[in-house]
Amino acid sequence: MGPCTAEKLTDKVYWVGAIDWGVRDFHGYLTSRGSTYNAFLIIDEKITLIDTVKKPFMNEMLSRISSVIPPEKIDIIVSNHAEMDHTGCLPEVINAVKPKKIYASAMGKKALAAHFHFEDDVVTPVKSGESISLGESSLSFVETRMLHWPDSMVSYLDTDKVMFSQDGFGMHLASTERFDDQLPAYVLKQEAEKYFANILLPFSPMVTGLMKKLEDLNLDIELLCPDHGPVWRSDIAGILNSWKEWALQKSSRKAVVIYDTMWKSTGMMAEAVADGLVSQGISVRVMPLSASHRSDVATAVLDAGALIVGSPTINGQMFPRMADVLTYLKGLKPKNLIGAVFGSYGWSGEAVKHVEQFLADMKIPLAAESLNVNYVPGIEDLKKANHIGVAVGKELVEKCPE
Ligand code: FEO
Repeated sequence: MGPCTAEKLTDKVYWVGAIDWGVRDFHGYLTSRGSTYNAFLIIDEKITLIDTVKKPFMNEMLSRISSVIPPEKIDIIVSNHAEMDHTGCLPEVINAVKPKKIYASAMGKKALAAHFHFEDDVVTPVKSGESISLGESSLSFVETRMLHWPDSMVSYLDTDKVMFSQDGFGMHLASTERFDDQLPAYVLKQEAEKYFANILLPFSPMVTGLMKKLEDLNLDIELLCPDHGPVWRSDIAGILNSWKEWALQKSSRKAVVIYDTMWKSTGMMAEAVADGLVSQGISVRVMPLSASHRSDVATAVLDAGALIVGSPTINGQMFPRMADVLTYLKGLKPKNLIGAVFGSYGWSGEAVKHVEQFLADMKIPLAAESLNVNYVPGIEDLKKANHIGVAVGKELVEKCPE
């Protein structure tokens, strides 16, 4: 079957996933450090596979399973999440393994049927609070609707105190290290934050609800096993707490200035805006879109208090990269931001109005009057741009007392 081996995580649980060193585009998200698709094998009287992997990685997973048991011995498959990075090879695996039972949430059963056109008796639905006996151990389920798909659920193995959390608490990070404490803390922070900003942000209120639900359940979790990135064993409290904090989307004395530029006019204004922000003690991240990916902008916005946007007008529109980034950000529904808009133009200048509309749709109030400069900004224009930064900075300082 291949040379890949499983990694033992606990008495009963093995990691049998796949490492994708090369993936860089995950439906629009720049996965600079690759990813893993984690699947887990539980060895008990009923041998159970938790989730599968992206289709091209099926053999890698089967090879890891084969290093523990022949795959045909799997009795149960649990699908915690129907997205294809975890189910792409499910029909083939079902064919190869012929499990006695396949479990998913009711919404998962529906989603799997819509993906793979399964007959109605293929998947057995389970609800929050239900559990199944695997022999010595039992596996219980908690539905986590819209985190981040309607079908999502997590499973908990009582004997080994393991929570399988599908996308929850995960990150896109390819590594041969399997546990959080084997990787640098700053890498974990960067990638977990990026994952939250790009995948979970629109569902922040539901994350807050889930965190409360998990607290109420008071499960003893010794190992937290997401479907991407490392397994948490040392800093479980840390990642749970980070999610709780990120979901609140608190304002802060940080500003993100995104801009695109044709002949450096809007670029010069961006520098002047940043200077004004700095004069008020604001920490500023200037992100020219020629060098900033939409998913990095989303990550920067996660803990910021202001989003300031600059675009030239081209053929009556904002710059295409700006339209891309604003469309993406609008979908992520960031909250508690204030904003401002600037730009430059030759003969019409519609971009500023179009950007203002985006910010209005995103419920980002403007903290300063927009600035639209004909061709190249002069010294007075740059002073006005600086004043935008000052005005936004003053409002942030007022909003976020130290
Ligand atoms: Fe990792 Fe939502 O799939």
